[in-house]
Amino acid sequence: MEKYIIKGGNPLVGEVEIGGAKNAALAILAASAMTDETVSIDNMPDVRDTNVLLQAMESIGVIVDRVGRHAVKINASQVRNHTIENEYIKKIRASYYLIGALLGKYRHAQVVLPGGCDIGLRPIDQHIKGFTALGANVTIEHGIINAYADKLIGSHIYLDVVSVGATINIMMAAVMADGQTIIENAAKEPHVVDLANFLNSMGANVKGAGTDVIRIKGVEKLHGSEYTIIPDQIEAGTFMVAAAATHGDVTVKNVIPKHLESISAKLVEMGCQIQESDDAVRVVASKRLTATHVKTLPYPGFPTDMQPQITVALGLASGISIVTESIFENRFRYVDSMIRMGANIKVEGSSAIIDGVEKYSGAEISAPDLRAGAALVIAGLIAEGFTSVDDIKYIERGYEDFHIKLGALGAQIERVDAEREAQKFRLKFA
Ligand code: EPZ
Repeated sequence: MEKYIIKGGNPLVGEVEIGGAKNAALAILAASAMTDETVSIDNMPDVRDTNVLLQAMESIGVIVDRVGRHAVKINASQVRNHTIENEYIKKIRASYYLIGALLGKYRHAQVVLPGGCDIGLRPIDQHIKGFTALGANVTIEHGIINAYADKLIGSHIYLDVVSVGATINIMMAAVMADGQTIIENAAKEPHVVDLANFLNSMGANVKGAGTDVIRIKGVEKLHGSEYTIIPDQIEAGTFMVAAAATHGDVTVKNVIPKHLESISAKLVEMGCQIQESDDAVRVVASKRLTATHVKTLPYPGFPTDMQPQITVALGLASGISIVTESIFENRFRYVDSMIRMGANIKVEGSSAIIDGVEKYSGAEISAPDLRAGAALVIAGLIAEGFTSVDDIKYIERGYEDFHIKLGALGAQIERVDAEREAQKFRLKFA
């Protein structure tokens, strides 16, 4: 089984190029199926989640032409059916974006109830509420969601919780509905805005994305488009925190610094220096980090997808930090592994109380989910001795060439798929 093997201790130094945003790509790829004309997407991350979504789209007749590692042409004029099989939805939760996309275009979608990273209950009641408000009939039988409508009619929808997925799904279902849809209490994440911009580039009329009220005037049809996906806020944030945790000096390039403000602000509170330019952020950490408190919130708050990484960094900061997770109820599953590495962390309800220690020591651990997996790799980079991180399939859902990018910054890390290779690595860096 593939794993990362890491010899900790090197500060990360240098420059790293950030790829396209996974969570924007998933929404945009699904929305590409909403026109019969060809859509060209650039800056697409080559990660497992986007690749599985493209396979799910191919399974219903979408033609996917990979014109480069990060570029794809999509043509959905030959879609044969509107049923997404379990095999895809089991692998990635975001296949459920095809409900909004197919319902919006074909007035019908059938998708197995989603799974995805095990970070909490993750209900989809708000998605269903939105589809229903637009006039769809939504039933769930034997774990399959079936949504159909003779006609979709614009509606005024108030989301009870700020949900990225529901905002995106409702937006797609509404772009070709009759009349105006208003989504109140909408999510404001950068990928919500990116999807709105993409839909508008296809001829949709979406206004207000990035605020909590999104207004959508239905158009008759969408046309082809050429679109470049925004940089990945979370990949960038992960490298920023890795730089800070290893006492390094890293310039994270090809980013939108505005999207990183909540992360930069916390790193400054922890004693790092941050320099922003137009499309890069440099993080310098020259001394031991200091404790701070973090609470995850919807954008522009501190992202839940950065919670494990910042916790790993705070585990070595001087003083006591409290990290509160307010989005998902099961996102501290990595803490046990950190305790095995020497961290002093107690989880009480939705908060982790962290008493910073002087050092971590290497251990054999597993990635419990995507972001926690990345965080444990950071823990390995700062631990004494060797760490091996198993189950890296989770990390590869959302990080392209993670170990290669870290290696180029000076980390001692390798991806191995046999104990013999791990042994070789250990001998090389002993
Ligand atoms: C998206 O998940 C992201 N996934 C997640 O990233 C991210 O953690 C999350 O947003 C929050 O930012 C994608 O974009 C593909 P939500 P999503 O709906 O859409 C509750 C990663 O690591 N809720 O915003 O599933 C829900 O339980 C992944 O890249 C309802 O109650 O998240 C949660 O408490 C993991 N009913 C809160 O809302 C609903 O119908 C926010 O969830 C929907 C959500």
